[in-house]
Amino acid sequence: DGAANEDIRRRIRTIPDFPKPGIQFRDITTLLLDPEGLSLSVERMLEQVEGEIDLVAGIEARGFVFAPAIALALGAGVLLIRKDGKLPGATIAEDYALEYGSDRITIHADACAPGAKVLLVDDLIATGGTARAAVRLLRKAGATVEQAAFVIDLPDLGGAEALRSDGIRVSALVA
Ligand code: PRP
Ligand code: HPA
Repeated sequence: DGAANEDIRRRIRTIPDFPKPGIQFRDITTLLLDPEGLSLSVERMLEQVEGEIDLVAGIEARGFVFAPAIALALGAGVLLIRKDGKLPGATIAEDYALEYGSDRITIHADACAPGAKVLLVDDLIATGGTARAAVRLLRKAGATVEQAAFVIDLPDLGGAEALRSDGIRVSALVA
């Protein structure tokens, strides 16, 4: 957090009224287009990782941009957390509430060995609904999940705080 990551903050674009009126959408596509922005983001997320990690779990879709880069540097594998209906094998699922209705994320039932140390990665945490469901899902699969790394936290929405209450060490590069 703070001024240290100003070089990352200034590469994130804000688009007003997307996807709905009144929402200030934090857009990482400009960060990713910039080679320096991309490499700084991955390096700074890596600095937040503590201890051994077996698998880096990325959340579809924007978590998939960061998870493999972090996993390669850690010598870890990548676990894809996908929206419902996308994975071909036997899956386990977790639902989470949206403003209207609910959504579902899935992983393959055999994706991780019991006790595997999993780092959760996504671009952004807002309400925390997605990340908290991901932690429940990974724990249901037997994983040990103690850390989550994001590029952006929207602290007014309370997601990072809620995720911390689930016993997760949460890092974000900018708020
Ligand atoms: C965004 C973002 C996180 C989630 C954060 O993904 O990338 O995954 O929302 O919101 P929350 O903390 O309130 O759950 P989105 O659902 O827009 O999917 P996308 O990455 O496929 O665009
Ligand atoms: N940007 C990108 N994804 C999001 C946002 C945002 O501002 N809010 C919730 N998901």
